[in-house]
Amino acid sequence: DLRGTLYERVGPDALRSLLERFYRHVAATAHLAELFPGSHDPALWAVTLEKQFAFLSGFLGGPPLYHQQYGHPRLRARHLPFAVTPQRAREWLACMQTALHESPEIDPDTAAEVYMALSRVAVHMVNSGDAEG
Ligand code: HEM
Repeated sequence: DLRGTLYERVGPDALRSLLERFYRHVAATAHLAELFPGSHDPALWAVTLEKQFAFLSGFLGGPPLYHQQYGHPRLRARHLPFAVTPQRAREWLACMQTALHESPEIDPDTAAEVYMALSRVAVHMVNSGDAEG
């Protein structure tokens, strides 16, 4: 793309603001929030946000911060302890869609591309049936 990587088009400050909005929506979606350590200790939302910031930085074509700090992401394996059902994947994506719409720093074309890239990954995180969640 002539306009650069998604990371360059979003920028680290807007990425951080996006994730702050995103995890506020996750925390407010009880069925999704119950998987996260932050639902037991609210201070842990910040830890989750930092990991996701580090991951998305590299995923969107910017600095590979997650690899540097935590090693290979092995995302599907790291999600296996959590019942990621089709419904929770839809909820996760809906929180992201809402957060993107609430982020005027991110232009609409870029937001749509970020959403499409994340929706492709989200389907691969599903590891449980809806009846198990
Ligand atoms: C971690 C849920 C999709 C990236 C987590 C954690 C939960 C979770 C409960 C643990 C948080 C923590 O230990 O702080 C879900 C659910 C999803 C989903 C329900 C629905 C599909 C995704 C997607 C991505 C992603 C699409 C990337 C594009 C990550 C990363 C971590 C993480 C990088 C941190 C892994 C670690 O170092 O422990 N996720 N996730 N997740 N998730 Fe997801």
